[in-house]
Amino acid sequence: MPALVTPQVETLGPPVPHGLGPVSRPGSGAAARKLGVLPMPSLEWNETVARETAHLYERIKTVVPPVEWPFFAPYVKAINELKKQRNAVILAHNYQTPEIYNCVADFVGDSLQLAREATKTKADIIVQAGVHFMAETSKLLNPDKVVLIPDLRAGCSLAASITGADVRLLRERFPGVPIVTYVNTSAEVKAESDICCTSSNAVQVVESFGVDRVILIPDEFLARWVATQTPVKIIAWKGHCEVHERFTADELRKYRASNPGVQILAHPECPPDVLAEADFTGSTSAMINFVKSKRPRKVLMVTECSMADNVQVETPDVEFVRPCNLCPHMKRITLAKILDSLVYLREEVEIDPAIAERARRAVERMVQLKN
Ligand code: 13P
Ligand code: SF4
Repeated sequence: MPALVTPQVETLGPPVPHGLGPVSRPGSGAAARKLGVLPMPSLEWNETVARETAHLYERIKTVVPPVEWPFFAPYVKAINELKKQRNAVILAHNYQTPEIYNCVADFVGDSLQLAREATKTKADIIVQAGVHFMAETSKLLNPDKVVLIPDLRAGCSLAASITGADVRLLRERFPGVPIVTYVNTSAEVKAESDICCTSSNAVQVVESFGVDRVILIPDEFLARWVATQTPVKIIAWKGHCEVHERFTADELRKYRASNPGVQILAHPECPPDVLAEADFTGSTSAMINFVKSKRPRKVLMVTECSMADNVQVETPDVEFVRPCNLCPHMKRITLAKILDSLVYLREEVEIDPAIAERARRAVERMVQLKN
């Protein structure tokens, strides 16, 4: 993709890692005390389970071998029944594995779509099949609902790269310069910023201020990509996605050489030299839409592994070349942990109210921006 403008980026750092809290005991949270834990359903594979889940296996049979279904199906059936019993919905990110994405999720999408969906749901409980910052965003938009993350350790290297104190220092150093924070951050960081963005609306958000200089943190590569799309000068932070930073331009050139005609789609969290090799750059949903609408004969998605499986389900006529980089955080979410979430109502996402109020403003400003 040719650059539209000469990118102007100044990058600050270094990243300061911070961890997430410990995993709770079953049923120890406030929601579990109020709503009660339920008995663990049977997880036996039998004829009834096979019959009642056959239509769901049909959806994923091209990407999940039949030998694996007897393991997944009892969980799928139990989760779908418990969702009704609890009036719960599952919001699943595009990187979730096919059995989660296709068989138990109520809504799937990129970070922006999931945040928008979180504002609309009438359910009492939201189970976030994604990472912690996504669950925090859902909680910010639904302070009175129970929001659960099946594994509290599902973090994100970008969210771990910056703290609220870092953002306060940036504000001191660049007084009056608007601060745009990628949603891949903690609520504490969002609380210190003016507005949030995702990879699908970052350019629009940066330009929404009508000024010539904006701070866009913490993803250095997203910031560098945005700087190629706008005349606004970008001040960036040196945070990276541990999944996308591993791709190299050299490997893409080799894939292209051995797969003539392949369309290469890349997520803007990839390094600039990798994006320079791509035919298209966009958010996870933008990549999905590209494949669904353009139906390239052969495609390579430079992003997390499970995306190719999930898109393959809907586009069986497209051939996928699959470099496989897994997000270890996304992969902490499994059917077994989602079931535990619904039975024991854990892990409940709680945000300090003083932080939540300011962080909510930043997320709401983003959600309210017109498409
Ligand atoms: P999207 O908003 O494009 O889904 O990206 C989220 C993410 O974590 C990518 O690594
Ligand atoms: Fe974070 Fe990268 Fe995983 Fe996305 S893929 S959740 S940015 S570590």
